[in-house]
Amino acid sequence: MTTLTTAPSTKANFASDPLHLIDVDHVQFYVGNAKQAAFFYAHCFGFQIEQVSDLTSGSREASHYLLTQGNIRFILTSALSSTHHAAMEVAQYGDGVKDIAFTVFDAEKAWEKAIRNGAQSAYEPRVFKDEHGTVTMAGIRTFGRVCHTFVSRTGAYELTKVKEGGLFMPRFRRFDTSSGSAGAGGVNPILTINEHNKKHPCGLKYVDHLVGNVEYGKMNEWVKFYEDVLEFRMFKHFDDKDIATDFSALMSKVMSSGQGLIKIPINEPAPGKRKSQVQEYLDWHANTPGVQHLALRTDDELASIAALRGRGVDFLLLPDAYYEKVWDRVNGMLTAHGHQAVREDHEAVRKLGILVDADDEGYLLQLFTKPLQDRPTLFFEIICRRGSQSFGKGNFKALFEALEMEQAKRGNL
Ligand code: FE2
Repeated sequence: MTTLTTAPSTKANFASDPLHLIDVDHVQFYVGNAKQAAFFYAHCFGFQIEQVSDLTSGSREASHYLLTQGNIRFILTSALSSTHHAAMEVAQYGDGVKDIAFTVFDAEKAWEKAIRNGAQSAYEPRVFKDEHGTVTMAGIRTFGRVCHTFVSRTGAYELTKVKEGGLFMPRFRRFDTSSGSAGAGGVNPILTINEHNKKHPCGLKYVDHLVGNVEYGKMNEWVKFYEDVLEFRMFKHFDDKDIATDFSALMSKVMSSGQGLIKIPINEPAPGKRKSQVQEYLDWHANTPGVQHLALRTDDELASIAALRGRGVDFLLLPDAYYEKVWDRVNGMLTAHGHQAVREDHEAVRKLGILVDADDEGYLLQLFTKPLQDRPTLFFEIICRRGSQSFGKGNFKALFEALEMEQAKRGNL
């Protein structure tokens, strides 16, 4: 099993390459109410509500909550005025992913190289500095409303220190300090949920992949963008024969960073008898490309799904017939390539409603949540890899039938 994202690169070998990505620094969401969204992701998905930057820490434009689990860092951002761009974007798109930020050795140099490679700037380098260290950020635009920020860190703000609980950047404060406590007689609900989540982990380790939905006919443009600008390479591709049901279809190409740090599949709708799930996304996302799903990696799919179901996460329902065929298909593929059969208890997999797929390298277990907000846009995938480096191609048909049942309920099929 690859653990590239949990074993970031060392400086000695790669510092001369400005676009060498060290880690996924964070994923930023623009949301309508970051304080409430923080509780949703903490209660349902087991995240620690670790730090905040808001009026109490000197941030007067927007509130930012840092949520962490394993090597996953989410920043939930809400505007504090109607003119802040987060407010305008939430009005247009609803809650969703704004920025996929990468840690690099030098954010300014990475940004300059990306611009030379043909990127459009989202914003020029900014330095956030105090007596503890510096955080430099610079952003480029990618598909639709999404940006990639390059982040470089020094002093107390180095990523290794952030992972150990250090402050994320200037103007953040931790919730375990006295300023975050409830005062006499009170119980701080954030500390309570954090304590509960430490005792009852959901086992999510890092972002395995992150999928962008783009318009019909645009997939190859964005594939070229990732190749030219960020020096990614194509990892796999699927056409509409792979990913189609009787009704709807899509095409997908998976882009991977040079170091295998992250994979970004790019989807576009393909013609079908009915509306593609990618088109439904675009319809409810102001006809603007954006992030369709984040796949969060676990080492124990059954334990993670059981924990998440126990917390009330709403997962896609599969057609019952799925489990009549899946073991022959998957174990047959594994045997044919000299691998052992799926080691997880088959009945437990069925009871938890988990999807299984195999390829020549091994197998994977995966499951998809329903949309995380009212609009049918962003959702999560919970994925566990046992050798397989693919994305569940054999499940696409079963999954799409399930997705279409949901689309039909929303009157969007
Ligand atoms: Fe996925």
